[in-house]
Amino acid sequence: MSWIFKYVNSSIGKKQLMAVTGGCLLGFLLVHFVGNCTLLIPDEAARAEAFNKVADTYASLKFLLYVAEAGLVVLFGVHIVNALRTWRENRAARAAGYEVQTRVGDKSLPSFVMIYTGTFLLAWLVLHILTFKFGKGVFADIIPHDGQITLYDVVSFWFSQSWYAAIYVIAMLCLGFHLWHGVGSVFQTLGLRHPKYTPIIEFCGKCYAALIGGGNAIIVITCFLREACK
Ligand code: HEM
Repeated sequence: MSWIFKYVNSSIGKKQLMAVTGGCLLGFLLVHFVGNCTLLIPDEAARAEAFNKVADTYASLKFLLYVAEAGLVVLFGVHIVNALRTWRENRAARAAGYEVQTRVGDKSLPSFVMIYTGTFLLAWLVLHILTFKFGKGVFADIIPHDGQITLYDVVSFWFSQSWYAAIYVIAMLCLGFHLWHGVGSVFQTLGLRHPKYTPIIEFCGKCYAALIGGGNAIIVITCFLREACK
């Protein structure tokens, strides 16, 4: 058992755990984004039906859904804890916590701000889960609905609030920024480097970041403008 303990406390162990969990979360984000795209269907009735159907499909998985949710908690938890441990370790190693931090060496801007975009996203995720995952129960009194409240009612209500939509757009830009550097890092940390394929992987990673960050931001803006123009 001591080797596990040694591994999770080593610098490379922390980085690899962050990379593996981050890699798995990339898959979750893509599936989640595809479901969210139903919010772009122009016809309102068809849009509400499609969006609620996606949620009902997940709910129908019952036990499997609980397993997937527990998996997500572990993935996010391990990713965040190891990101914070690595950041603290790097800071201590530079032994300059009290000095003005400057962008160093060949670090790109998204790489330099990983900890800040990540921290903002963590705070946003708490808001996201509270309002969307538990929104039907917690905010049922303030969300307009006919008959039984649906997930579509919840999402439409929150995205019609300008302050809420603004926070989301900022969060999605942070997400795009975070992934811009993050996807390539997953492969690099796991040692998956090849002179021919690495540039292709990095290019695909940046396309993925733009798709998920930009695509989700477009969904939020579309929902907001649709309600504002009613
Ligand atoms: C426009 C963007 C997004 C929309 C419209 C959206 C919508 C939703 C909705 C409606 C739920 C509740 C699902 C349910 O109760 O069945 C949900 C859950 C969740 N979302 Fe999002 N989401 C977005 C972006 C994101 C992003 C970028 C992340 C991660 C960084 C994320 C992470 C999660 C997580 C972890 C859950 C809980 C899943 C579960 O426990 O079943 N979402 N989202």
